Amino acid sequence: MTSLSASKSSALTGTIKVPGDKSISHRSLILGGLAVGRTTVTGLLEGEDVLATAAAMRALGASVKRHEDGTWEIHGRGIGTLDEPEDVLDLGNSGTAARLLMGVVAGHPISAIFTGDASLRRRPMGRVITPLGQIGAAFHGRAGGKLPLCVVGARDPLPIRYTLPVASAQVKSAILLAGLNTAGETTVIEPEKTRDHTETMFRHFGAEVRVEDLPEGRVISVTGQPEFHGRDVVVPADPSSAAFPAVAALITPGSDILLEAVGLNPLRFGVFETLIEMGADIEITNRREEAGEPVGDIRVRASELKGIEVPAERAPSMIDEYPILSVAASFAEGATVMRGVGELRVKESDRLGTMARGLAKAGVRVEEGEDTLAVTGSSNGVAGDALIEADLDHRIAMSFLVLGMGAESPVAIDDARTIDTSFPDFAGLMRGAGAKIQERT
Ligand code: S3P
Repeated sequence: MTSLSASKSSALTGTIKVPGDKSISHRSLILGGLAVGRTTVTGLLEGEDVLATAAAMRALGASVKRHEDGTWEIHGRGIGTLDEPEDVLDLGNSGTAARLLMGVVAGHPISAIFTGDASLRRRPMGRVITPLGQIGAAFHGRAGGKLPLCVVGARDPLPIRYTLPVASAQVKSAILLAGLNTAGETTVIEPEKTRDHTETMFRHFGAEVRVEDLPEGRVISVTGQPEFHGRDVVVPADPSSAAFPAVAALITPGSDILLEAVGLNPLRFGVFETLIEMGADIEITNRREEAGEPVGDIRVRASELKGIEVPAERAPSMIDEYPILSVAASFAEGATVMRGVGELRVKESDRLGTMARGLAKAGVRVEEGEDTLAVTGSSNGVAGDALIEADLDHRIAMSFLVLGMGAESPVAIDDARTIDTSFPDFAGLMRGAGAKIQERT
């Protein structure tokens, strides 16, 4: 295990090159592997989660290569032509890889066994098993729908119309991916909007996707068996990863940093909206579009923050950012109340529990409810002086390192290895900007 410790840092300055968007990276490899001809991907996140998807797509018969200049090239043979993998698909720590690829396999006449690390093996898969079962796939596995499990894809996948019982882009995407190899129209209704990278990229590769906003929610339909052609994809920097240096700069006096070419998709941008409401000095410039996704540069300067109420409706647009928002809240004046965040209990860890325990250990006032988290900052700052269990959760590990950068005494995390799943060289990039992060022996 690599244990890291962060201590009070001097002002953060300069440009920080945040790695590529994890959601878009997974999708580019999957769609490239389903398309006929050559797909190139620049700016792909080379984190372990995405590399697990690359390996799985190879096992399913796609050619996936990395060029020396960092460009990735993918060749597929078309929707419906995937090979049955010869071995178990191990998706490591990645819920997105597991659930999206279960959708892909469910729509093909092949079987595959899915597994992952201890964190992924405890996460719920019933939410994809139910709709993919309606499409005609069968699932054999442990009680409670946990990995490892075997997916037997449908011979003749059926088009379904399915209303999401939980706001989940992974579930929506799994159904739409299965729908790609289905004759007719597959429809997902989402009562609450979730990230729409799948729909955007389906169009980019040549599928017909209809989206309607109706009283029951957003209705997304894909016409099955489209001709998918290889395309070029430019992956923006991940706003979820950008949130870590952004909060680090906000809480470290004198900081002024620039985060370049970050994805600005409104369905991902809730944390920046929230920080701005809390009083953060955040400026967005150079707005442009890459492969259908809005992109821009984000300048962040140290700011005095105040606590606010974060409404439940905002949760899907910042679902991965509550851990780092709780760190910002620890340095804000007054209480920040986060509502409607029960989904955090089934992420890489039970994030309400891991954050509440860790913040309390570091001397922050925190109250954990069934689906709420309330953090009260104080003008005396944060004590720190704690060793935090990150519980195989990259975002918990990075959040507490950021907390340590602003705390009076150092904050350490027990295991930093999972940071590589989404933000390779996080510690190195942050050190380059002025952060004090050391290895613990
Ligand atoms: C993701 C969707 C979200 C998010 C995850 C990535 C995606 O999960 O937490 O990190 O790429 O579709 P849910 O769909 O479970 O909310």
